[in-house]
Amino acid sequence: MNSDIESGFGIYIHFPFCLKKCDYCAFSTWDDRFDLVEPYLQALKLEITSWSKNMELAPTSIYFGGGTPSLMEAKQISPLLELFDIDKDVEITLECNPETVSVSKLVDFKNIGINRLSFGVQSFSSHVLASLGRIHSADNAIKAFGFAKEAGFENISLDLIYGASGESDQDWLYSLEKCFELKPTHLSAYALTVEPGTALSKDPLRYPDDDVQAKRYEVIDELAEKIGMRWYEISNWAFEGYESRHNQIYWSRKNYLGFGCSAHSYIDGQRRWNFSSLNKYLEASLYGRSLCCGKEDLTDKQNRLEVLMLGLRTKDGISLSDLFKLFPKLESIFFNSLDASLTELLEITQKRVRLTLKGRLLANEVINYLSSFESV
Ligand SMILES: C[S@@+](CC[C@H](N)C(=O)[O-])C[C@H]1O[C@@H](n2cnc3c(N)ncnc32)[C@H](O)[C@@H]1O
Ligand code: SF4
Repeated sequence: MNSDIESGFGIYIHFPFCLKKCDYCAFSTWDDRFDLVEPYLQALKLEITSWSKNMELAPTSIYFGGGTPSLMEAKQISPLLELFDIDKDVEITLECNPETVSVSKLVDFKNIGINRLSFGVQSFSSHVLASLGRIHSADNAIKAFGFAKEAGFENISLDLIYGASGESDQDWLYSLEKCFELKPTHLSAYALTVEPGTALSKDPLRYPDDDVQAKRYEVIDELAEKIGMRWYEISNWAFEGYESRHNQIYWSRKNYLGFGCSAHSYIDGQRRWNFSSLNKYLEASLYGRSLCCGKEDLTDKQNRLEVLMLGLRTKDGISLSDLFKLFPKLESIFFNSLDASLTELLEITQKRVRLTLKGRLLANEVINYLSSFESV
């Protein structure tokens, strides 16, 4: 079957191994379990094969995330790709840590069909990288980007993090300038968040400051726009045509299947998730038990909130007709007695409502306010 780009169906494959755990990271990933890589790849194959018996796996995008999937060799990835029905247009992304790639490895990735790379760079200042607990230098990130170009990759995304302890306004500006000099097609920039259980969470002196992060966000948006990159989701900017198809599947609530430990799936209104623990995932696979440890059918209320939340975070926002269908009580006040403070946070046209730049900084507050009309 040909993949239907319009309808969209995503595959996420989790690779839970990293050379070293970063101080801020709460993803399911281990830096001391490399003996489990091969059993894990076998378990992934079994999981994908068992789904393929019930359902045609013809995705429009495949995303290898982690962890650090670039620790794998192409010969470990291709047996996984062979389990899917892959049309030539399918977007296949692999997350890379700059420390783990060479030109020849990236050429091998390209030869097996990977056509998009996403590098975790985080910062181009060495003291900021050290403060985040990253293993690579800024120079290695620049080199890794060059390797990707040399290997023939055109579609390359960079991840940055802002608000780390020790990062000055000047450091952030420098990181953005270095990033844009490389000319990635796509940029994800995340406000550093303190996740429970991380090394960062135990060190309040390194916690980020909201006002500083808001300022940093405005700088990204201004510089990205200047070079022609447009925001298309709160934390994502791209040149036209290079928006991540895979992420858009999540934001437009299309179906996706996640494989591997901690992976989530969303199929026809039902969400399900696998064991986060590597041991539990492998043990369940070994004994032929279900790898899924939870599922829920979204209630009407959850669905309404998700449509609002995911829609408003994107540049298209949400159509007024959808908004009033979801929250009918909003209709009567929307053009007359809407809270005055919202006028600078929302751009309202005849048909749609979108967040302004200020609104993006206060997205959660706006979403809470709008969704409160359900219970009024
Ligand atoms: C799985 S990692 C990317 C690939 C690779 N593992 C790496 O870090 O080089 C996904 C991205 O999430 C972001 N991220 C993870 N934890 C975060 C946190 N606590 N706050 C902000 N961003 C975070 C980082 O930008 C990171 O690059
Ligand atoms: S940020 Fe990336 S490299 Fe660092 S621990 Fe998390 S997944 Fe691993």
